[in-house]
Amino acid sequence: MVIVVDHPLVQHKLTKLRDKSTEPKEFRELLSEISSLMLYEVTRNLPTKEVEVETPLGIAKGKVLNNKDLAIVPILRAGLVMAEGMLRILPSAKVGHIGLYRDPNTLKPVQYYTKLPEDIDKREVVVVDPMLATGGSAIAAISILKTKGVKNIKFVCIISAPEGIEALKNSHPDVDIYTAAIDEKLNDHGYIIPGLGDAGDRLFGTK
Ligand code: PRP
Ligand code: URA
Repeated sequence: MVIVVDHPLVQHKLTKLRDKSTEPKEFRELLSEISSLMLYEVTRNLPTKEVEVETPLGIAKGKVLNNKDLAIVPILRAGLVMAEGMLRILPSAKVGHIGLYRDPNTLKPVQYYTKLPEDIDKREVVVVDPMLATGGSAIAAISILKTKGVKNIKFVCIISAPEGIEALKNSHPDVDIYTAAIDEKLNDHGYIIPGLGDAGDRLFGTK
């Protein structure tokens, strides 16, 4: 299933994120904020348990999350800032890291780092990366998680290309895709058009 998060707050911030005049400091803040807002949608069906809480005036019935449920796995580098935004509203989530970069010639992902929580196979995992272009990086990251026994995976990006969505759906049909926008196409270098450029470079000022 593909879920386009078209909430006005997300779309407003996404428009600023795309703007080429947005500098890294604001770019990081916007990406972090959009990610917090998207987690609201992603966690809509997370299980809760009923508890009672004592207010100053009586006993109220309430619901709490089970802290053991979720892990957030950013794809490095650009996913890091998304994870940070999500942790602001779900600080108890565990975090795993998967390091991948796209070879500029082949556009295939190259894996260079993986560190996951020990109990990752018992958690619902939210994989985050702002850009779903060819889909190679998302597909590789999700394959790594599946080899570790993870069964319940969601993928959250900010901008996706139709090509990436198709590829990810074909390789991992069980994984729901959350995106704030589906853009027009990829260019010859595998960049999303109109997209926002190179997410990692815009976040960290490397170009
Ligand atoms: C970007 C982006 C994704 C990937 C998407 O990362 O953050 O991980 O490209 O492209 P794909 O769908 O075609 O695989 P990049 O490889 O530039 O690495 P970086 O985050 O370290 O800059
Ligand atoms: N990676 C990016 O950072 N941007 C794109 O448009 C495609 C891949």
